[in-house]
Amino acid sequence: MGVTYFLLCCLSLAITAQAQDCSRPVGGPNMVLKDKDILLETFPDGTQVTFACEVGYISAGGSAISICQGGSWTPVRLKCERKNCGPIGEVENGNVDYPEGTEFGDRAVITCHDGFILVGKDKIYCQDKGWANRLPVCEVVSCDPPPAVADGTFKPVSESYSYRDVVQYSCQKGYTLNGSISASCSDDGTFQPAPPSCIMVRCSDPQVDNAELTEGSQRVYGYMATVTFKCKTGFMMTGANSQRCEINSQWSPPLSCKLITCKLPPTVENGSFSPNKTSYNYGEAVQYSCQKNYTLSGAKSVTCSDNGIFTPGPPTCILITCKLPPTIENGSFSPNKASYNYGEAVQYSCQKGYTLSGAKSVTCSDNGIFTPGPPTCIRSTTPPTTTTTTTTTEPPTGNGETVKVMLIVLAVIGTSGICLLCAFCIYKKKRGSGRGGPDKEAPKSEEEVALS
Ligand SMILES: *[C@@H]1O[C@H](CO)[C@@H](O)[C@H](O)[C@H]1NC(C)=O
Ligand SMILES: *[C@@H]1O[C@H](CO)[C@@H](O)[C@H](O)[C@H]1NC(C)=O
Ligand SMILES: *[C@@H]1O[C@H](CO)[C@@H](O)[C@H](O)[C@H]1NC(C)=O
Ligand SMILES: *[C@@H]1O[C@H](CO)[C@@H](O)[C@H](O)[C@H]1NC(C)=O
Ligand SMILES: *[C@@H]1O[C@H](CO)[C@@H](O)[C@H](O)[C@H]1NC(C)=O
Repeated sequence: MGVTYFLLCCLSLAITAQAQDCSRPVGGPNMVLKDKDILLETFPDGTQVTFACEVGYISAGGSAISICQGGSWTPVRLKCERKNCGPIGEVENGNVDYPEGTEFGDRAVITCHDGFILVGKDKIYCQDKGWANRLPVCEVVSCDPPPAVADGTFKPVSESYSYRDVVQYSCQKGYTLNGSISASCSDDGTFQPAPPSCIMVRCSDPQVDNAELTEGSQRVYGYMATVTFKCKTGFMMTGANSQRCEINSQWSPPLSCKLITCKLPPTVENGSFSPNKTSYNYGEAVQYSCQKNYTLSGAKSVTCSDNGIFTPGPPTCILITCKLPPTIENGSFSPNKASYNYGEAVQYSCQKGYTLSGAKSVTCSDNGIFTPGPPTCIRSTTPPTTTTTTTTTEPPTGNGETVKVMLIVLAVIGTSGICLLCAFCIYKKKRGSGRGGPDKEAPKSEEEVALS
């Protein structure tokens, strides 16, 4: 009961205090308290305050007064609107833009047409009391003559130039123009781009290590003089081989001759090379060789030459094979194949009655040739084992067939001889016994028969 009373007591005290004073009043948007009220923090009951629009804002009607009544302020009816400066006006030969508008804080942006130059401010702000500045003017552009150029001139010459007028520059003989050859009167009243300069270009005598000049030698080297170099033997150009005298009196591009080296020579199947190194100097040679059973075709030796490559191209290693071995008279060989591998052997033999002279076996060797050379077949010196009784001084001239024929001939001749002898004996006997006429004819015919 005591606690409730205390709380009620406190509440009534607070209500009584608020009813008497008001705290600082808050107006509508863009308003401020007028005069000395702006400095106060508490306001007694019944106090009347007046509001005003803040800077840049203007009243659009409504009461600006508020009264503190029972601790709270009566509502303020005042309306504040942002001030509008309105259009600033027109600019001859120019434009006025309002990127945001024409209200307080906004700006007017003035630009001049091409060929006109702005005199005055190009941005004007809308302030509390209207536009802050007067409008600028757009004056027609004109240029003063461009600055003189040392060792050069320009054309045409005039006291004043209109917008977009052009001057052409030139340099005295022996001088080189560096920069733009012409300039024009631009909208800022000056000639653009900046004037060129006239330069005496002289390059020093060209020098390139390990190279000799081949073209373009002169007494003096002026602008754009071109020289060509060639590297000394064993050296190679890295990049261009000619250079030019540039405007800065320097040769460009720089040239250089590098010592020629070769990388590994190409590898060859079934072969190798020596020496085996990571890099070879110009002129260094490499020898190729083939594995066993292979033969080298092409250049055995290649040399590191220009462009860092080995010349001539690498050889090849070809598997050695032999074609048919040579044929021999009165003999043959075996086996008989179209092709023989390296190391393969062939056996020769002679026909009957002939003896082999030389190597019986030949082998497919290097270069695809059978070694040693083929044998020969010679007619045997020992007579064949036949039972002929005839005494012949000559040795047999041929094979068995020939001998047989000869024997038959000999036999016929022998038989004829015997018959002739017999006939002769009979004839003699008949003559000796009686010389009759009728007997005469018979022996004669007999003789003829024997003889035929
Ligand atoms: C040539 O003109 C350019 C640009 O103005 C300048 O940078 C350069 O130094 C000039 N060259 C010489 C050799 O004067
Ligand atoms: C030769 O080269 C070929 C291909 O590389 C390979 O197949 C063959 O075995 C080689 N011959 C020898 C005898 O090494
Ligand atoms: C060269 O030597 C390298 C390294 O010893 C080896 O790998 C390569 O096979 C060799 N080449 C020849 C062709 O001998
Ligand atoms: C032996 O060879 C020669 C020459 O080719 C030939 O004239 C002769 O008939 C041959 N001999 C035999 C018995 O074939
Ligand atoms: C070479 O040829 C011979 C005969 O054909 C063979 O026996 C040998 O293995 C071959 N050698 C190589 C290295 O190929």
